[in-house]
Amino acid sequence: MQNHSSSPVLPLTVSRNPAPLAGTIRVPGDKSISHRALMLASLAEGRTVVTGLLEGEDVLRTADAMRALGARIAREGDRWVIDGSGVGALQEPEDVLDMGNSGTAARLLSGILSSHAITSFMTGDASLRSRPMRRVTQPLSGNGSCFATRKGEKLPMAIIGTGEAAPLTYCLPVASAQVKSAILLAGLNARGRTRVEEPVATRDHTENMLRHFGVPVEVGRTDTGGRVITLTGPAKLTARDVVVPADPSSAAFPIVAASLVPGSEIRLPGVGLNPLRTGLFQTLREMGAVLDIENARIEGGEPVGDIVVRSAALHGVDVPADRAPSMIDEYPVLAVACAFASGVSRLRGLDELRVKESDRLAATVALLRVNGAVVRVEGDDMIIEGRGGPSGLGGGLVETKMDHRLAMSAIVFGLAAESPVRVDDTGFINTSFPGFVGLMAGIGAEL
Ligand code: S3P
Repeated sequence: MQNHSSSPVLPLTVSRNPAPLAGTIRVPGDKSISHRALMLASLAEGRTVVTGLLEGEDVLRTADAMRALGARIAREGDRWVIDGSGVGALQEPEDVLDMGNSGTAARLLSGILSSHAITSFMTGDASLRSRPMRRVTQPLSGNGSCFATRKGEKLPMAIIGTGEAAPLTYCLPVASAQVKSAILLAGLNARGRTRVEEPVATRDHTENMLRHFGVPVEVGRTDTGGRVITLTGPAKLTARDVVVPADPSSAAFPIVAASLVPGSEIRLPGVGLNPLRTGLFQTLREMGAVLDIENARIEGGEPVGDIVVRSAALHGVDVPADRAPSMIDEYPVLAVACAFASGVSRLRGLDELRVKESDRLAATVALLRVNGAVVRVEGDDMIIEGRGGPSGLGGGLVETKMDHRLAMSAIVFGLAAESPVRVDDTGFINTSFPGFVGLMAGIGAEL
């Protein structure tokens, strides 16, 4: 896939780190929560101040889009100040909304736009333009809105929203917080009760933040462990300040690096520990990782804590499919850990990885294989035969396919491997983890 943006390609070669990783690393703000903070603050009445916002490319696209829709959004020092327009009061954007690399921005915003009486046009970069939108356009059009997409329901698309949206009742066919959120956000400006059922619980930041902004959101359990979420529109959001915790999905990279580089000990303050996001930490512990939580607390309505991780000899693991939603973005770096662990790992139920920023299942297999790991796919499962250490690993060129998480996973691989790992382009890391290379250098990574 070609990068058609003007950003230069940034290749990198990463060699086995000569020294342990040590010290404190401040991981940037949570991407999921940052998108939601900007969107909900723009729909709120009054002024919201957000601290800890992720200033990555993906989130900056959301800020631009919400500005184009009429919200006033300004950065003042390390705070973001948002004066919202109120639900139902968004303006028609004068130009195409470009959501860059961000599926979350495109899908959540589709929900909001579907129930506003405006026509808008949305596009993204080559990666986003290849990703499926039918998962949101199909259910959302049930509210009276209309979507015109390219063949295969891909971006660019036109969205003809309605000011008289019907409330939706929808059972998620895929475990996707993006789809759930799109339906709930559409429901804010629909008259009556919106109901979403999810057979497997996915991240609940939208529900939590809607409550934070004063919208009554009810969450019930199904007999089979799923959830039913309801809200009644039209809803009024009242501006309230938001504190964004550090992103556990970004913390994953230094955590796995410190687990693999011998003698390491690092601390990551204020990491989000929402139980629907912590599947990787549980899995790493099952592999023998030494990962402790200190100062567990609630901040801005979300559980957070300081993570302390020390290097350890890891062993293989069997990860059940129903854990996938709680660590969906962490499989590439988990697969790296499994390649260095002793014994066989089986990561089950990875079908959703095929439709991420890249086909992450294929790209993760390629990352491992080109660097000497023994890996195969059986159905939707990935099976990795660990080497029990760095020997025989490395030496490959990783194609990152416009995918930030593949680039960071490849760097972590290189820090621990016997032979250097070449990464074709690290530029996309800025979408979710600006400053990654510098922050890793701050804990002793020689990049
Ligand atoms: C996200 C949900 C996940 C995740 C993405 C962020 C969100 O996608 O992969 O990085 O913020 O809701 P899906 O909901 O499509 O699984």
